[in-house]
Amino acid sequence: MRTVAIIPAAGSGIRMGSGRAKQFLDLAGSPLLAITLKAFQDCRSVDAIILVVPTGDEDYCKKDIVEKFKFNKVKKVVNGGKRRQDSVRLGLEATDAEYGLVIIHDGVRPIINPEFIDMVIAAARTDRAVITGLPAKDTVKEINGSGQVVETYDRQRLWLVQTPQAFRYEDIMAAHNKATIEGWDEATDDSILVERMGIPVKVIEGSESNIKVTTPNDLKMAGFLMGHNAHSK
Ligand code: C5P
Repeated sequence: MRTVAIIPAAGSGIRMGSGRAKQFLDLAGSPLLAITLKAFQDCRSVDAIILVVPTGDEDYCKKDIVEKFKFNKVKKVVNGGKRRQDSVRLGLEATDAEYGLVIIHDGVRPIINPEFIDMVIAAARTDRAVITGLPAKDTVKEINGSGQVVETYDRQRLWLVQTPQAFRYEDIMAAHNKATIEGWDEATDDSILVERMGIPVKVIEGSESNIKVTTPNDLKMAGFLMGHNAHSK
């Protein structure tokens, strides 16, 4: 089964407060997004990449990222939508039917390696739908609008979910189509749509280093983790 990677990188990055979307900020001398893409380019199980970017940034992404870094697996650079869910759907719609498996990974999670991507794809070949995450270390509480605790959850059963997430193409496409037609609530990951289709989703342990770069502090942390990973090789 051929595999396509969809990289949603069309967020505006308002929480970063830098004026430039976080996926384009410098990380160890390269745009953060280029570091994420390199892991997929170098992964032997990935046959093609569809990159989803903010409207107005297509030329920059094509010239200064895809061409400059010679990411020849990137087959299309497409505009994203209002929500992450819309961006992923637009990426899926731009994908040719020849791909049986889809692996989806946030453009702003640069600390990932080709071997881990390989492992997730291999798991999806047998388990149909696979997501990555970590058991919760902190206690998780639900609070109301006044900042008061409503409920405390049993930590033993809670996982914090990351990307990559991998699915059969027909499953994830059907899930996104149904979500659009039936107007399902905003989905902050892709698995939730597949879960709602009644498809069992397997969770495998991710990595603490696989952070989502959202704030200036995350960017500093990613820089540290990159240095650390380089030294530990
Ligand atoms: O911060 P958030 O979880 O929304 O972003 C996760 C990923 O989804 C980021 O790589 C971001 O660029 C992308 N995204 C997108 N389109 C949106 C919003 C987020 O591709 N409309």
